[in-house]
Amino acid sequence: MKLSLPVLTAAVTLASLLAVPSFHAAAAEPKPVVESLRHADIKADVNEGDIYKYEKDREPIPREYVQQPPLIPHTIANYNITKEFNKCMDCHSWTRYKETGATKVSLTHFKDRDGKELSNISPRRYFCTQCHVPQTNARPLVGNTFKRAQGLN
Ligand code: HEC
Ligand code: HEC
Repeated sequence: MKLSLPVLTAAVTLASLLAVPSFHAAAAEPKPVVESLRHADIKADVNEGDIYKYEKDREPIPREYVQQPPLIPHTIANYNITKEFNKCMDCHSWTRYKETGATKVSLTHFKDRDGKELSNISPRRYFCTQCHVPQTNARPLVGNTFKRAQGLN
């Protein structure tokens, strides 16, 4: 049987009408509560601010395992990374590293997620502090027994 357009439209309308009650039933269920781990308001700025001091700037810190993102051996106060500007690349880019004395970003940082080589820093490597962390005088929250990888001893 070939359905005419009005019949089809009517069928679709009827189906959506029938679907409505179940939609309402779902909406009546209690809303899931989204909570932060620190139980603070999701939108609140819970950044601890200036309670920790950055360690003094120093030579690069030895790595603990071969694939480790090197720790940042200097303060990063006010080194902002925004959509428009990346302060880290001011010193670490291949065009600036010679005059700033910083290590140039690794070749691996130019690859996109499909392994394609780009001519500038890859979006997945853009937010440096996702992987590279500075050092402060904060006490470790938990103990740890990690031992340096054998190949680095
Ligand atoms: C004003 C220049 C400057 C800026 C801005 C800067 N750095 Fe550096 N960075 C350096 C210098 C210089 C060194 C090397 C220190 C040395 O060799 O003694 C370094 C070292 C490092 C290292 C250690 C590299 C290694 O081989 O161990 C990392 C990681 C690093 N920086 C990350 C960052 C990140 C992330 C940012 C942005 C949040 C940043 N830096 C911003 C100058 C800078
Ligand atoms: C997704 C994690 C990740 C992000 C994001 C990232 N890095 Fe790295 N970075 C690494 C890892 C892992 C290494 C060590 C292995 C390698 O060289 O790829 C590294 C190595 C480095 C090195 C040392 C290079 C060398 O020759 O020894 C520098 C400097 C560096 N990164 C700077 C940066 C800067 C600046 C940014 C932001 C523009 C950044 N990284 C973003 C993971 C990351």
